[in-house]
Amino acid sequence: MPDRPHYVDLLNDIRLQESRAGEYLEAWANTTTNEELKECLSMVAAREYSHGDIFDRRVKELGFETSEVADPEFVEKVRVVTSDITDAEKIAWLKEARLRQPSPTVRERYEAATNDESVDPLTRSLLRWFTDVENDSVVRMGEVYGKIENGG
Ligand SMILES: [Fe+2]
Repeated sequence: MPDRPHYVDLLNDIRLQESRAGEYLEAWANTTTNEELKECLSMVAAREYSHGDIFDRRVKELGFETSEVADPEFVEKVRVVTSDITDAEKIAWLKEARLRQPSPTVRERYEAATNDESVDPLTRSLLRWFTDVENDSVVRMGEVYGKIENGG
């Protein structure tokens, strides 16, 4: 096996975060009765699953095995988004959960890796594209969340 680059763990963490996001967003999409929210969650969930697959592949292309890392918050996230509380309450809960993320967050780590010349160029290019898609998802979800938070 080649020497293990320092960023393989980051790529594996992105893979896990994205595929888990796909799961809980899809679970929420299947629960909500708000059609606009359902459509947005389904679109973003498909992106998240796809990102999970792409980073899974990238770890393997670099010559390494992916690994499983437990996320104690994940089960709770699925439980909350499929519960009987309102969509507005789910949004508030998810925003609180985001604040509890350990620092540096995965997002902070991949932003740093994008600008790190010791990371191989193809991975950096992938991270730039991934960041653009994630930003677009944040904007789209923010628009739908905003309407729900304002009682729409
Ligand atoms: Fe994501």
